[in-house]
Amino acid sequence: MRALLIGGGGREHAIGLSIVKAGVELYVLSHMKNPGLERISKKIVTGNENDREWVLSQANRIEPDYVFIGPEAPLASGVSDILTRNGFRVFAPSSTAAKLETSKSFCRRFLREKGIKGNVESNAFSDMDEIEEFVMGIDYNFVIKPDGLTGGKGVLVQGIHFRDREEGAKLAKAYVGEEGKTVLIERKLIGEEFSLQAFAFGGEIFFLPLVQDYKRAFEGDVGPNTGGMGSICFSERGLPFINREEEKEAREIMRSIVANLDDDGIKYVGPIYGGFMATSEGVRLLEINARLGDPEAINALSVMENSIFDVAVKMFNGVNPELEFRNKVNVLRYLVPRGYGSDPHPSKISLDEEGIYLRGIRTFYASVSKRGQVLHQTSSRSVALFSEGNRIEDVVERFQGIEKLIKGEYFMRRDIGTVETISKKKEFMDELRSKKV
Ligand code: GLY
Repeated sequence: MRALLIGGGGREHAIGLSIVKAGVELYVLSHMKNPGLERISKKIVTGNENDREWVLSQANRIEPDYVFIGPEAPLASGVSDILTRNGFRVFAPSSTAAKLETSKSFCRRFLREKGIKGNVESNAFSDMDEIEEFVMGIDYNFVIKPDGLTGGKGVLVQGIHFRDREEGAKLAKAYVGEEGKTVLIERKLIGEEFSLQAFAFGGEIFFLPLVQDYKRAFEGDVGPNTGGMGSICFSERGLPFINREEEKEAREIMRSIVANLDDDGIKYVGPIYGGFMATSEGVRLLEINARLGDPEAINALSVMENSIFDVAVKMFNGVNPELEFRNKVNVLRYLVPRGYGSDPHPSKISLDEEGIYLRGIRTFYASVSKRGQVLHQTSSRSVALFSEGNRIEDVVERFQGIEKLIKGEYFMRRDIGTVETISKKKEFMDELRSKKV
């Protein structure tokens, strides 16, 4: 059997590892050669992974049994559609289903029209004057979200990216610009964020364990929001600061989304991701992504016993994939270029991979190319350091002094997964729930 994987970042390295667990041949189409995928695949063909015709011509040559798509951009450009039309089994949503991610206004409207719980007060604008008038009339702090894809970095939050309504209105208007693009103004929520990932097929949905992504650039959860600096997962134990009721609410929201899409004749196939916030008034949906998260895919697929390839085969055959998870906790910390999140300065780094491995830490490659022993960074995340164990304290301990095994210029948050950060989140949520503010 043969699998074709589209994309070449950290998430795709994890998907690739999960695919080859099934003993199948892995082929990859990607804009760059991921050193991790290079080790485990039969072949990586480099090219524009968002170019439908190019992807189709490669798929015709490779003749995969199943196709997996990691990132969102190929979904938006119709790669899944053209492959499906040409008879390939694609474990990824169509561009229509992926509108849940590619158009945030579609997602909000869909939730509103279907009466799905967890929606957030949200208004869409493509007229600069209307933004000014609206923003000056509201009495709550807000978040600005461009309607289309922004690589996870376009959301601007009051108190982080702008101070007051005047500044926010200016930024929102700049997004709209002369072209009249659409921007959403949403009420800013207070709480803890968490990610819930799942696999769907039509109305059926099967969940992965919760993960929390540390989004802010710097230690202490300050600085600009990023694509994610690292993440934690406690497998089926759930996150210590998210209670079972909140997890259940999030599951119901996602279940309801795929069921309602199915009722409308839109069959959702493949990975789906809900970005949620637990607030004093219950769980709210921040966004749906039509893919697995990066880094969240690494945490969740690492504790999943099943191969994602077998999951796809079963789901295409109408069989319950019977997902099983190891009872482990894991911590991931991304090495990123200096200035990542605002003004990245890519450089060269090298890792003593064996030394890192001997400490019980695995490496997942993201946006780097390898020349000799040297890794060349891009402006995006470089390498994920990942470790799992029975107790979070022991897992975090393994990262102590890891810097000695990494040469070159990079940045890594050292507080991801520490007992201090987790206790703080737990205290914060306990207080928030008790005050009901
Ligand atoms: N880590 C956030 C995302 O994948 O969108």
